[in-house]
Amino acid sequence: MAETWTVLKILQWTAGYFKEKGIDGGRLDAEILLADVLKLNRVGLYLNFDRPLSSDEQAAFRERVARRARREPVQYILGTTEFWSLPLQVTPDVLIPRADTEILVEEALKKIAGSGAILDVGTGSGAIAIALAHELPEARIDAIDISPAALAVAEANARHNGLAERVNFRQADLYHLSGGPYGLIVANPPYIPGAEMSGLMPEVRDFEPHLALLGGDADGLAAYRALATEAGRLLQPDGWLLVEVGLGQAEAVDRIFIRAGLQDLFVRDDYAGVPRVVGGRNLR
Ligand SMILES: C[S@@+](CC[C@H](N)C(=O)[O-])C[C@H]1O[C@@H](n2cnc3c(N)ncnc32)[C@H](O)[C@@H]1O
Repeated sequence: MAETWTVLKILQWTAGYFKEKGIDGGRLDAEILLADVLKLNRVGLYLNFDRPLSSDEQAAFRERVARRARREPVQYILGTTEFWSLPLQVTPDVLIPRADTEILVEEALKKIAGSGAILDVGTGSGAIAIALAHELPEARIDAIDISPAALAVAEANARHNGLAERVNFRQADLYHLSGGPYGLIVANPPYIPGAEMSGLMPEVRDFEPHLALLGGDADGLAAYRALATEAGRLLQPDGWLLVEVGLGQAEAVDRIFIRAGLQDLFVRDDYAGVPRVVGGRNLR
């Protein structure tokens, strides 16, 4: 007789399997993937521990488990994530937006008056631009990316959140920016130094777009140099440049901003205490 797989039994088995594969937080991932298959939320799973899975449900779950065991991020398997409590589609063409990036949104909201002009550089899934459009109904928002595939995802995300009219997405290279003047420029640019790419977790290194990760110059900071240099031309007087930085990069980016003549510099830590956002103002 075929074995009966209940919700609880398959979760326990999968958590152990993910652990063997070196995946941290495997039980949570198992729950998220199973909830997706069964069209339940996680509380629903807990209320249905004894429910047997049909053979179709088992097959659909097995396919997701196999992908996760190969270290594909859960968000790509589901095709969705949340940023700023807004649902966003994610495909392998875009970086999975991180909770840390919400710090950049929080700081941006402190710096911009409601009706200002904003530029989001390297918009990816559109996460930052869409969160700002959601919070600032009067703001005019441009969002650029060099990747047409990423822009298609960002546009779909703006549409699904009812914000398509609020963000002007266009293809552009951050090293040749035009437009403005902006009251605020925000960017979470690629910032991983080339020498560090091979040491990234497989979820990041093998699945997220390298275009979104690999920063230019040996130290990964080329995008910050370009943005700081161009800030005087693109920002209105008093306008702010706010960027997300990688682990250990805040001091160097701060120095880049000082050398470029930006003023009122500040650094904001994320909730893990890591300096995460650097900001400076165009007072020329
Ligand atoms: C770290 S991801 C950030 C995505 C999104 N803003 C977020 O915070 O989740 C960097 C983005 O910059 C884009 N990018 C890389 N090089 C670029 C360039 N030269 N000009 C414009 N965008 C670029 C990538 O395609 C990617 O979408």
